[in-house]
Amino acid sequence: MKLGPLNHVGVATPSIPDSIAFWRDVMGATKIHEPFDMPAQGVKVCFVDTPNSQIELIEPLGEDSPIHGFLAANPKGGQHHLCFEVPDIHEARAEFEAMGKRVLGEPRIGAHGTLIFFVHPKDMGGVLTEIMESPKAEH
Ligand code: CO
Repeated sequence: MKLGPLNHVGVATPSIPDSIAFWRDVMGATKIHEPFDMPAQGVKVCFVDTPNSQIELIEPLGEDSPIHGFLAANPKGGQHHLCFEVPDIHEARAEFEAMGKRVLGEPRIGAHGTLIFFVHPKDMGGVLTEIMESPKAEH
Protein backbone atom coordinates (compact mmCIF):
# COMPACT_ATOMS: atom_id res chain seq x y z
CA MET A 1 0.00 0.00 0.00
CA LYS A 2 1.29 3.43 -0.96
CA LEU A 3 -0.50 6.39 0.60
CA GLY A 4 -2.18 8.44 -2.11
CA PRO A 5 -3.78 11.90 -2.21
CA LEU A 6 -6.40 12.81 0.39
CA ASN A 7 -9.41 13.16 -1.91
CA HIS A 8 -11.94 14.37 0.65
CA VAL A 9 -13.06 14.44 4.26
CA GLY A 10 -16.57 13.10 4.80
CA VAL A 11 -18.72 15.13 7.21
CA ALA A 12 -22.15 13.85 8.22
CA THR A 13 -24.85 16.46 8.71
CA PRO A 14 -28.56 16.50 9.50
CA SER A 15 -28.97 19.36 6.98
CA ILE A 16 -26.89 19.98 3.88
CA PRO A 17 -28.39 23.50 3.45
CA ASP A 18 -27.34 24.42 7.00
CA SER A 19 -23.88 22.97 6.42
CA ILE A 20 -23.52 24.84 3.11
CA ALA A 21 -24.29 28.07 4.97
CA PHE A 22 -21.66 27.21 7.58
CA TRP A 23 -18.94 26.42 5.05
CA ARG A 24 -19.76 29.56 3.02
CA ASP A 25 -20.32 32.08 5.81
CA VAL A 26 -17.99 30.86 8.57
CA MET A 27 -15.24 29.09 6.65
CA GLY A 28 -15.28 31.21 3.50
CA ALA A 29 -15.83 28.45 0.96
CA THR A 30 -16.38 29.93 -2.51
CA LYS A 31 -16.86 26.77 -4.59
CA ILE A 32 -19.78 24.67 -3.38
CA HIS A 33 -21.12 22.08 -5.79
CA GLU A 34 -24.76 21.18 -6.40
CA PRO A 35 -26.03 18.56 -3.90
CA PHE A 36 -27.10 15.23 -5.41
CA ASP A 37 -28.76 12.01 -4.27
CA MET A 38 -27.00 8.66 -4.16
CA PRO A 39 -29.99 6.36 -3.58
CA ALA A 40 -27.93 3.16 -3.71
CA GLN A 41 -25.82 4.46 -0.79
CA GLY A 42 -28.75 6.00 1.08
CA VAL A 43 -27.18 9.45 1.15
CA LYS A 44 -27.46 12.92 -0.29
CA VAL A 45 -24.02 14.39 -0.98
CA CYS A 46 -22.60 17.87 -1.51
CA PHE A 47 -18.95 18.66 -2.23
CA VAL A 48 -17.30 21.81 -0.94
CA ASP A 49 -13.94 22.60 -2.55
CA THR A 50 -10.95 23.58 -0.46
CA PRO A 51 -7.74 24.74 -2.19
CA ASN A 52 -6.19 21.28 -1.92
CA SER A 53 -9.07 18.87 -1.26
CA GLN A 54 -12.81 18.65 -0.71
CA ILE A 55 -15.29 18.33 2.12
CA GLU A 56 -18.05 15.80 1.35
CA LEU A 57 -21.22 16.74 3.19
CA ILE A 58 -23.41 13.67 3.72
CA GLU A 59 -27.05 13.78 4.72
CA PRO A 60 -29.28 10.71 5.21
CA LEU A 61 -31.50 9.76 2.28
CA GLY A 62 -34.30 7.35 3.10
CA GLU A 63 -35.17 5.50 6.27
CA ASP A 64 -32.43 2.87 6.14
CA SER A 65 -29.58 5.29 5.42
CA PRO A 66 -26.29 4.10 6.94
CA ILE A 67 -25.82 7.66 8.28
CA HIS A 68 -28.78 7.47 10.68
CA GLY A 69 -26.75 5.58 13.29
CA PHE A 70 -23.93 8.13 13.14
CA LEU A 71 -26.35 11.05 13.52
CA ALA A 72 -28.13 9.31 16.40
CA ALA A 73 -24.78 9.27 18.20
CA ASN A 74 -23.77 12.73 16.89
CA PRO A 75 -27.01 14.70 16.41
CA LYS A 76 -25.26 17.84 15.10
CA GLY A 77 -23.20 15.81 12.66
CA GLY A 78 -19.44 15.52 12.58
CA GLN A 79 -16.40 14.10 10.87
CA HIS A 80 -17.39 10.76 9.37
CA HIS A 81 -14.58 9.42 7.15
CA LEU A 82 -11.37 10.20 5.28
CA CYS A 83 -10.99 9.27 1.61
CA PHE A 84 -7.66 8.47 -0.01
CA GLU A 85 -7.03 7.77 -3.68
CA VAL A 86 -5.33 4.68 -5.08
CA PRO A 87 -4.39 3.87 -8.68
CA ASP A 88 -6.06 0.41 -8.68
CA ILE A 89 -9.07 -0.29 -6.46
CA HIS A 90 -8.98 -4.09 -6.72
CA GLU A 91 -5.27 -4.24 -5.91
CA ALA A 92 -5.83 -1.96 -2.90
CA ARG A 93 -8.71 -4.10 -1.66
CA ALA A 94 -6.60 -7.27 -1.88
CA GLU A 95 -3.78 -5.54 0.01
CA PHE A 96 -6.05 -4.42 2.86
CA GLU A 97 -7.55 -7.89 3.13
CA ALA A 98 -4.09 -9.46 3.15
CA MET A 99 -3.27 -7.17 6.11
CA GLY A 100 -6.35 -8.51 7.92
CA LYS A 101 -8.33 -5.28 7.62
CA ARG A 102 -12.11 -5.56 7.44
CA VAL A 103 -13.17 -4.27 4.01
CA LEU A 104 -16.85 -3.33 4.01
CA GLY A 105 -18.44 -4.81 0.91
CA GLU A 106 -17.44 -5.03 -2.72
CA PRO A 107 -16.04 -2.01 -4.58
CA ARG A 108 -18.91 0.15 -5.80
CA ILE A 109 -19.36 3.42 -7.63
CA GLY A 110 -18.73 6.35 -5.31
CA ALA A 111 -19.68 10.00 -5.37
CA HIS A 112 -16.95 10.85 -7.90
CA GLY A 113 -18.05 8.12 -10.30
CA THR A 114 -15.08 5.84 -9.65
CA LEU A 115 -14.97 2.63 -7.59
CA ILE A 116 -14.67 2.93 -3.82
CA PHE A 117 -14.74 0.77 -0.71
CA PHE A 118 -14.65 1.43 3.01
CA VAL A 119 -12.39 -0.11 5.65
CA HIS A 120 -13.69 -0.67 9.18
CA PRO A 121 -12.61 2.05 11.65
CA LYS A 122 -11.71 -0.54 14.29
CA ASP A 123 -8.93 -1.76 11.99
CA MET A 124 -7.87 1.79 11.00
CA GLY A 125 -6.98 3.58 14.21
CA GLY A 126 -10.59 4.59 14.77
CA VAL A 127 -11.01 6.27 11.38
CA LEU A 128 -13.59 5.02 8.89
CA THR A 129 -11.48 5.06 5.73
CA GLU A 130 -12.74 5.28 2.16
CA ILE A 131 -10.43 4.09 -0.58
CA MET A 132 -11.21 5.50 -4.00
CA GLU A 133 -9.76 4.77 -7.40
CA SER A 134 -8.32 7.99 -8.86
CA PRO A 135 -10.40 9.44 -11.67
CA LYS A 136 -8.64 8.86 -14.99
CA ALA A 137 -7.26 12.06 -16.46
CA GLU A 138 -9.52 13.43 -19.17
CA HIS A 139 -8.03 14.19 -22.58
CO1 CO B 1 -16.60 9.87 0.86
